[in-house]
Amino acid sequence: MNSLTLESPAKINLCLYVLGKRPDGYHELLTLFQRISLRDRVLFRKTRSGFRLQCRHPLVPCDSRNLIEKAWRLVQSRTGLRGGMEVILDKRIPVAGGLGGGSSNAATTLLAANRLFGLRLSQPDLMEMGRKLGADVPFFLLETSRAIGRGRGDELQPLAGATKLSVLLTLFSSGISTKSVFESLSRPALGPTLTKLNCDIIMISVFLASKDLKGCSTLLRNDLFKAAHRMKPEIGRVLSFLRNSRPASAMSGSGPTVFSLAANRVETEAAASEISRKFGLATWVGSLY
Ligand code: C5P
Repeated sequence: MNSLTLESPAKINLCLYVLGKRPDGYHELLTLFQRISLRDRVLFRKTRSGFRLQCRHPLVPCDSRNLIEKAWRLVQSRTGLRGGMEVILDKRIPVAGGLGGGSSNAATTLLAANRLFGLRLSQPDLMEMGRKLGADVPFFLLETSRAIGRGRGDELQPLAGATKLSVLLTLFSSGISTKSVFESLSRPALGPTLTKLNCDIIMISVFLASKDLKGCSTLLRNDLFKAAHRMKPEIGRVLSFLRNSRPASAMSGSGPTVFSLAANRVETEAAASEISRKFGLATWVGSLY
């Protein structure tokens, strides 16, 4: 096999609870990751030597800042692999949107290199490498489409089962840096106990399985919302508008993308048109994956 084309999916955080700051500078999280049907497409081709990344998207750097190249370099240093790789990235996931696009691309690169070069890296090896590349990367190495994330978000508990629900994403014209959102977090007020939050996160999955979107609406909290909202007040306006008629709506990750779940695709498309008309923003309609 000389080349391989893989889909690199986006995620949403159905909820994101920040529990505090860690000694390593990261934040302790409790989050529920969910893959969605929005995907980049990535072609990987073996070459004799060197590394080359091509992407037409104006906001994607095609140099060593890109997580695809970082993942490739990590594979090389870890395995001593000689050969080279050419990568063509068809970017569809908004950049810096809170949808994990760069992390997903990094995970896809680890999986592609492992297969193309027959490296026999085990799942624990891949997970360890993923953690080095970023807190969201390990989730994209799982086979399940939903998982609870603890620690930095990279201690994962995969959850079985998929729910057929439509997703509406409201996309903003520019992204937000995850680092700056975390840095501008105010000290968390004393909130619910960890036992309660662990229970809430399981309840979200239970409500989704029975398509009880009203039931899970109060649990879809994102503790990064206030910080992201200060940087981009439009997020709050869109979310308030959506929540009037669609209770299962929240911000994903560190924002700015806002998601909204519904059982009915036609109704979701109508809501997407309304958002575009009212706010002049781009939207995307798809499904939980
Ligand atoms: O791991 P990743 O490089 O994707 O994270 C980007 C930034 O987000 C980190 O440098 C850190 O500032 C912040 N972060 C955090 N706590 C987490 C995950 C990310 O503070 N659990």
